[in-house]
Amino acid sequence: MLTHDLVEERSFFGGLTAQPADALLALIGLHRADARPGKMDLGIGMFRDDLGQTPVMRAVKVAEAMLVEQQESKSYLGTEGDGCFAALLAEVVFGAGTDRLTGVQTPGGTGALRLGAELIARSRPGATVWIGTPTWPNHAPIFRDAGLPVQTHRFFDVASAAIDFDAMIEDLGDAQAGDVLLLHGCCHNPTGADFSGEQWREIARLCERRGLLPFIDLAYQGLGDGLDADAAAMRGLLRALPEAVIAYSCDKNFGLYRERVGALWVQSISTDPVRGNLLTLARSLWSMPPDHGAAVVRLVLENAALRADWAAELDAMRARINELRMALAASHPRLAAIGDQRGMFALLPLGPDAVEALRRDHGIYMAGNGRINIAGLTPENIPIFVAGVAPYLA
Ligand code: LMR
Repeated sequence: MLTHDLVEERSFFGGLTAQPADALLALIGLHRADARPGKMDLGIGMFRDDLGQTPVMRAVKVAEAMLVEQQESKSYLGTEGDGCFAALLAEVVFGAGTDRLTGVQTPGGTGALRLGAELIARSRPGATVWIGTPTWPNHAPIFRDAGLPVQTHRFFDVASAAIDFDAMIEDLGDAQAGDVLLLHGCCHNPTGADFSGEQWREIARLCERRGLLPFIDLAYQGLGDGLDADAAAMRGLLRALPEAVIAYSCDKNFGLYRERVGALWVQSISTDPVRGNLLTLARSLWSMPPDHGAAVVRLVLENAALRADWAAELDAMRARINELRMALAASHPRLAAIGDQRGMFALLPLGPDAVEALRRDHGIYMAGNGRINIAGLTPENIPIFVAGVAPYLA
């Protein structure tokens, strides 16, 4: 009989080390298990209404009913997925002028990021990906798991809640030609702090001068200042530079979270090999993307009435977030910067002990780094939230 030690030694999986649970996703369960009536879910990034719900958007509901009615087969569509989805979405994302862009449907924004990372790893193995800190905790693992080294650069000063652009440029002094620069297109996660127009132009000049490839993560279009305004910085980079990668998510602006709807676009000097390589990589990663959510987006975008209703509901969602931002900014001097920032998130200068105490003593759930999802607040509970947080903001 094999002893336990011998079994361990022979295991194919003996090389694995224990992994912590994803801290952000774990918050969903922790909040759900809390029975306190006034608890606040400011954790994972999902839009919420005044009742704390994340409703299915009106146009999405109608399109889903149409899909059930019209769809006669679930037969395979192929690696490219829904033929019209990426083309219709491209109008929303890029406006006009998509000549040198290759787009493919992906399972969510994460799928798009991973596919883009795999494409770079295949084309330029060993290219370093530069990521500003703080960032979404899944960014670095996605690039590392695709085999690309990751380096971080400073980006944001938490204490003053402001972008530290000089520090960013200084750190990027170590980037080499052929490296990749990851950028948040709008509504920065977790800080809510977006670059100014002049800073974006400086980033474009830096990429050109140093031979860096911009990789733009655009996951919140429409939730900052509007559909076109939120895409303006990314569009400017595409005009200024010959090549770029854009990872896109429909999770938040179509409220399709669990359906996993995204797209990857690559702007390249030559588009031919890019498409073929994206398709072969996607084939080995997920073979074909999930259909339902992308078909719903396609139905919404190809129907003028549904498209208008989707845009109107998105406007209302954005207005709610920005009203909450203004109320928070006015509620405490240390929160004033939140009024100038955009999107769902703000990063509060709170240590892990304060985050833990707020959860324990007040039922306020936020990410471990002090990030709050502003949409999880209501005009009524903002004073309660601020009273809980204020002692830790001194
Ligand atoms: C978030 O940052 O809360 C969202 O992007 C959800 C996720 O997948 O982490």
